[in-house]
Amino acid sequence: MSYDPCYSPNKLRYSSKMQYERCGLSGLKLPLITLGLWHNFGASHSLEKQSSLIKYAFDCGITHFDLANNYGPPPGKAEENFGQILKNDLSRYRDELIITTKAGYQMWDGPYGDGGSKKYLISSLDQSLKRMHLDYVDIFYHHRPDPETPLDESMAALDSIVRSGKALYIGLSNYNSEDGLKALKILKDLGTPCLIHQLRYNLLDREAEHSTLVDFHNQGVGSIAFSPLAQGLLSDRYLKNIPDDSRAGNKASPFLDHESVNANIKKIKKLNEIAKARNQTLAQMALAWCLRRPEVTSVLIGASSNDQIKENLKSLGNLNFSEADIKVINTLTLEV
Ligand SMILES: NC(=O)c1ccc[n+]([C@@H]2O[C@H](COP(=O)([O-])OP(=O)(O)OC[C@H]3O[C@@H](n4cnc5c(N)ncnc54)[C@H](OP(=O)(O)O)[C@@H]3O)[C@@H](O)[C@H]2O)c1
Repeated sequence: MSYDPCYSPNKLRYSSKMQYERCGLSGLKLPLITLGLWHNFGASHSLEKQSSLIKYAFDCGITHFDLANNYGPPPGKAEENFGQILKNDLSRYRDELIITTKAGYQMWDGPYGDGGSKKYLISSLDQSLKRMHLDYVDIFYHHRPDPETPLDESMAALDSIVRSGKALYIGLSNYNSEDGLKALKILKDLGTPCLIHQLRYNLLDREAEHSTLVDFHNQGVGSIAFSPLAQGLLSDRYLKNIPDDSRAGNKASPFLDHESVNANIKKIKKLNEIAKARNQTLAQMALAWCLRRPEVTSVLIGASSNDQIKENLKSLGNLNFSEADIKVINTLTLEV
């Protein structure tokens, strides 16, 4: 794919529907909807399609793009593709973008390609910056806690990354409240307060409501909810069947399978009826559900088409839930 001299972003991108919220107690504003590149941005999707998704999102006011060292397939490919798209079309807009990456899962062979050691975190970010042709990322996350590395070491590595200028802010992901609160204290004492916590939260997985969301919020840290559509289950994608081109239909993808669809389909159909009564699609209601929480700064969606992004943005038109809606949703989603 070559440089597209014709691309100029939508002039109305900041006056359209997107809203921006301060992340926790920081000064950084994030769009209520963020685009993640975990799926659909690896080697098996064309660069043209990926470029179209990213530029469409930017045109709609989505300024925040979420990556990780291991997104692909193969691992690293999503960063490489994103870097190419950025270089071709968006480099002039770098200061309008929040670009994040992470390290914490297995990335390369040997003892230094996984976990939370200083060696791994710093080498991994250096590799990510090279793949994306960037001098710095806006947010660098520790992708998951590593019980084998002292928390002090991982947090000191994150602090040194900010001091080196290779990241502006630090995030944590998949930390429970106990480890998270310890990590927040270490970071604060080092002088690099944590900006954001990235965690799974959706209508089918409400575990985070028990403590994590509130505990991070009480420390002034924002939360970004990943898989807010439960990887597509909370949409009309599977209401009739499992399409071949869907995540669950793709046998090469281990993350969502036929069993998960079949196990949840009754609940999904009932949730779809509630969404209809609210004049929303199920996807829109599912995103609104996460955004109604004061702790949630942004929902981190994935998308395989521009139309999905378009539909999801319309969730911002109605983020309110009546007591009656909440009651019926609780009955449906909290039942054992
Ligand atoms: N920190 C972590 O450990 C962690 C873990 C997981 C994810 N994440 C981040 O969170 C991001 C989002 O995760 P996710 O992809 O699981 O999010 P998701 O928004 O729950 O699921 C995205 C999938 O839902 C389907 N979809 C989206 N909008 C739709 C619509 N309007 N109608 C019908 N289907 C729709 C698409 O599936 P099809 O592809 O089938 O069309 C899309 O790929 C990732 O890219 C990554 O950045 C982080």
